[in-house]
Amino acid sequence: MTAATPPPLSPPPGSADRLPTAAPAPAPTTLPAGPVTSAWAGDVPRLAARGLIKRFGETTALAGVEVEIPDGASLAVMGPSGSGKSTLLHCLAGIYQPDAGVVALRGREVQGLSEKERSLLRRSQYGFVFQFGQLLSELTALENVALPAMLTGASRVEAETAAQQWLAALGLAGTEGRRPGELSGGQAQRVAVARALTTRPDVVFADEPTGSLDRSTGHDVMRVLVESTRAVGASLVVVTHDAQVAAWCDARIDMLDGRVVPAGTTTGGGVGPRTGELEAIRAAAVPR
Ligand SMILES: Nc1ncnc2c1ncn2[C@@H]1O[C@H](COP(=O)(O)OP(=O)(O)O)[C@@H](O)[C@H]1O
Ligand SMILES: [Mg+2]
Repeated sequence: MTAATPPPLSPPPGSADRLPTAAPAPAPTTLPAGPVTSAWAGDVPRLAARGLIKRFGETTALAGVEVEIPDGASLAVMGPSGSGKSTLLHCLAGIYQPDAGVVALRGREVQGLSEKERSLLRRSQYGFVFQFGQLLSELTALENVALPAMLTGASRVEAETAAQQWLAALGLAGTEGRRPGELSGGQAQRVAVARALTTRPDVVFADEPTGSLDRSTGHDVMRVLVESTRAVGASLVVVTHDAQVAAWCDARIDMLDGRVVPAGTTTGGGVGPRTGELEAIRAAAVPR
């Protein structure tokens, strides 16, 4: 296949003159060409889950979760720490096998695929943005962004040309040669967004992707994440503690004790510590 070339995005500040304009390549299809699951034969959502149950020993992390994400839509997942948000994301992305229930991408069930098939699915049709530490520290920003396309068969030249366009579109022109340690936290997360988009995924999964950034930088990155996934037609599942970020998404679910509960019934900000809180508490607690 050829390296994915990014379509125009809403321009980030200062980069409007460098937006790539090439037409998007078709999404790769790696799923077995089985029949579309009858439950979704009508209006097939991009990604859906029914009756998801996941246990870790005595702990029931997911207690029967239903989710539907339409084509190109963004879903915010909120809820207190320990409520099952990450477990849901991992099950939806085929990283964890649920103990019961169904996950379907474009109507085709994926939870029964072999480990190898799920790995291929994740690499070619999903993009991931995590809180931090996902970029390879010995590679440059350009090489980090080019890597997923190369792993799915693009030549180095194709992949790096496309990577340069993605970086420019995300306001990162000039950072190509820098290693992650030479980027700010916000820049590193934008590079991670670029990397997640480069294979033109069907779905981007983001687990508290701005959890290690200050609120203002985090908002910039979140806006880029939501807008850029929308621009390329990918669906987005994003775990966030920030109600304002959730408001930018098309839909929101709130989780509590492994279940989806009506929005707004959990504490909006979650019970987990926010960036800086623990440091502030520790600093205040140090005996003088
Ligand atoms: N790998 C694991 N092994 C054991 N327990 C786990 C594991 N992952 C999650 N859990 C438990 O499952 C529950 C849900 O966790 P998680 O999905 O990480 O919640 P959240 O992302 O909302 O903070 C928690 O009780 C957590 O301790
Ligand atoms: Mg989590």
